[in-house]
Amino acid sequence: MGTAKTPRGRLPLSIVAIIIFIFFMIALLYTERFSSSILKFKSCSRRASVAKSTKSTRDDRTTEDDLKDAEVDDRFEFDPNECSVAHGKWVFNSSFKPLYSDRTCPYLDRQFACVKNGRPDSDYRHWEWQPDDCILPRFSPTIALEKLRGKRLMFVGDSLQRNQWESFVCLVEFVIPEDHKSMKRGRSHSVFTAKEYNATIEFYWAPFLVESNSDNPIIGDPKKRILKVDSVSKHSKYWVGVDILAFNTYVWWMSSTKIKALWGSFANGEDGSEELDAAVAYQIGLKTWANWIDSTIQPNKTRVFFTTMSPTHARHK
Ligand SMILES: *[C@@H]1O[C@H](CO)[C@@H](O)[C@H](O)[C@H]1NC(C)=O
Ligand SMILES: *[C@@H]1O[C@H](CO)[C@@H](O)[C@H](O)[C@H]1NC(C)=O
Ligand SMILES: *[C@@H]1O[C@H](CO)[C@@H](O)[C@H](O)[C@H]1NC(C)=O
Repeated sequence: MGTAKTPRGRLPLSIVAIIIFIFFMIALLYTERFSSSILKFKSCSRRASVAKSTKSTRDDRTTEDDLKDAEVDDRFEFDPNECSVAHGKWVFNSSFKPLYSDRTCPYLDRQFACVKNGRPDSDYRHWEWQPDDCILPRFSPTIALEKLRGKRLMFVGDSLQRNQWESFVCLVEFVIPEDHKSMKRGRSHSVFTAKEYNATIEFYWAPFLVESNSDNPIIGDPKKRILKVDSVSKHSKYWVGVDILAFNTYVWWMSSTKIKALWGSFANGEDGSEELDAAVAYQIGLKTWANWIDSTIQPNKTRVFFTTMSPTHARHK
């Protein structure tokens, strides 16, 4: 369940979390087993590397050549049991065509539509994650859908997670004929269905994961928000029975330095609430969420992902 970092002070400018999440999802879809609730990456073997050096010695080449070769091509084909997708780097590759844009995908909110909103550059769409030890296959919508056959995938969290959900839908929807797919959007719960696959890709709105008085409708002033840090039950009943759950929560906790935390019921308004440092409240809230996961989720049935910190996304001038 990822260690929840508890940052202090202002929003850190972490731009990686959202992107890391994408490759987790890609890794997931190439993983044969949905058997563990926690991502456990075994350390990579270096079969290819060993094979290579044996060959090089036979060819009687210099050590320098060997080193160069080791750097260039000791990566092997992706195998989820042997390759850690958590270790790698971003590489720029202008030669592949992104699978969708906000002009081709009908499901992207205006809020996330960079091109429609006038972003002129497009380089940002050409970065791809390259694990250190293996070569990731390119994302295939049909393979992804096949993996999801008969399953429910649900993204849970704030608007960043809604963006991830829409992106995922956009990555697969264009291979499905119009009358074989549907989209039902609700206030809290939205569902994209791939009918022939009997698969759903869903989103559930819970910006803090725990309950708050600002889930629906949103309260603009962070000082008026009260979080029920000891309970997820209002939301979690929607998470039961889902095969793959992808959570996030972070930025909403950090929109002020203090958070009004409540134990028990909202009935008495702010009475009984306690002001906590945002980081402390975040820690308690995550503990509440993690306890629910541990006590409810069967690791052999449901796979759980969690994204911690997310990038700031303030207006750019
Ligand atoms: C860039 O993408 C193309 C198309 O998928 C691929 O053939 C090529 O190997 C990639 N280049 C690098 C450096 O990964
Ligand atoms: C469709 O998927 C659901 C789980 O999401 C499952 O309960 C149901 O049995 C499936 N139906 C068919 C016809 O496969
Ligand atoms: C999953 O694990 C639980 C408890 O360990 C067990 O009761 C259940 O039969 C298992 N289910 C499957 C599908 O293996």
